[in-house]
Amino acid sequence: MGLRAVCWYGERMSKVEVVRTSSRPSSDVRGITVLGATGSIGTSTLDLIKRNPGRYRVESISARRNAAALGKIAREVGARHAVVADHSAYRELKDALSGSRVEAAAGEDALVEAAQRPADWVMAAISGSVGLKPTLAAVERGATVALANKECLVCAGGLFMRRAATTGATILPVDSEHNAVFQALCAGNRADVKRAILTASGGPFRTWSKEAIKAATPEQALRHPNWVMGPKVTIDSATLMNKGLEIIEAHHLFSLRSDEIDVLVHPQSVVHGLVEFRDGSVVAQLGSPDMRIPIAHCLAWPRRIDGPAARLDLAALRELTFEAPDLERFPALALARRAMETGGAAPTVLNAADEVAVSEFIAGRISFPAITVLVEATLDAAGGRGLLAEPAGIDAALAVDHIARSLARDLLPEIAVKAS
Ligand SMILES: NC(=O)c1ccc[n+]([C@@H]2O[C@H](COP(=O)([O-])OP(=O)(O)OC[C@H]3O[C@@H](n4cnc5c(N)ncnc54)[C@H](OP(=O)(O)O)[C@@H]3O)[C@@H](O)[C@H]2O)c1
Repeated sequence: MGLRAVCWYGERMSKVEVVRTSSRPSSDVRGITVLGATGSIGTSTLDLIKRNPGRYRVESISARRNAAALGKIAREVGARHAVVADHSAYRELKDALSGSRVEAAAGEDALVEAAQRPADWVMAAISGSVGLKPTLAAVERGATVALANKECLVCAGGLFMRRAATTGATILPVDSEHNAVFQALCAGNRADVKRAILTASGGPFRTWSKEAIKAATPEQALRHPNWVMGPKVTIDSATLMNKGLEIIEAHHLFSLRSDEIDVLVHPQSVVHGLVEFRDGSVVAQLGSPDMRIPIAHCLAWPRRIDGPAARLDLAALRELTFEAPDLERFPALALARRAMETGGAAPTVLNAADEVAVSEFIAGRISFPAITVLVEATLDAAGGRGLLAEPAGIDAALAVDHIARSLARDLLPEIAVKAS
């Protein structure tokens, strides 16, 4: 007998229950699709697949325009299908695949098709809201979806969870904090959960003064102390917006209210998430800061596979420290919580404005504090225009996303001056 987690996402609440099922025969080969295969999460997923020969069969992989890397991965893992979202990279992909039997495709519709192809398990690791449609396509056919793309839950979390409940899709959280909470939740019943705690490294500016943070450069913000990640999520870790987005994700994944989700700054990034139960027990998941741990957990679910991450040596670490987040130096965290509590399309607007703000900061056009100022101003402007009603579907959520981006761009000149 093995353990299989079944996530029921009902209208009223979601719960993670652990039920006993017979284990899969060891000869089972799991069909895998990796959306965002050339990125940080995608390459970690493929690394695990390569380290476990014979266990997985790669159906489809995708990238935006990194055709050479995608072609190389397709050959290495024997993928059946490879997609670049950007049509202009199609020729390069065809060339990279010439002489192989890998089918090549291009365009956003082809991304959706990739998610619809027969694979038991889909890694949703495209960055940004462009990941919504392909991920929903995997949910619609009842697949097991390892969800890394935050935007699915932040922009349209209610919709994703309702569709998963209807289609029987299983959503496995890849984000290390949610994966940790997911593992900890398996220690008890959902009804006995008092709160979940997400940990945050605090980012590169954890100990910086407000004045110093004001002058932070993109190079400094991109230097994360513990994790190697894509640029957007790395900047979001520096502002703590990432933790704010994660609060919204946890709300949808585990049906927790705002007052049931706490954040603790934990600079060592060893304890990733904790769950407190009504009897006072606190169950935590620990591991070295390597995304291959939560990815391996999702990849092998409901079993375990050998993982290549460095083993945790607690004696060598000597101490694990925790502190409350400083909302004054890192206002993005409170802003994201406010958007979650407002509900409707507020998180969608928050996320869209943040994407604009982060790319403007990386390009050197706005200051570090202006990221949060711009997001707040966009939320206010969207509220003033009555744009915060719950989007009825993905297209409505994407329309709000689109409007929020243009609102944010319109506000840029004013914010750049104000926050300089
Ligand atoms: N990295 C982490 O540790 C981490 C942890 C938790 C959650 N996440 C979340 O996981 C997602 C992926 O993060 P990441 O760090 O792996 O990002 P990343 O390194 O920037 O990789 C993004 C991937 O998505 C593809 N992509 C980007 N824009 C696209 C578009 N418009 N259309 C189609 N494909 C597109 C990229 O292709 P190209 O290579 O061609 O650009 C690449 O394969 C994000 O939502 C992030 O918030 C990441």
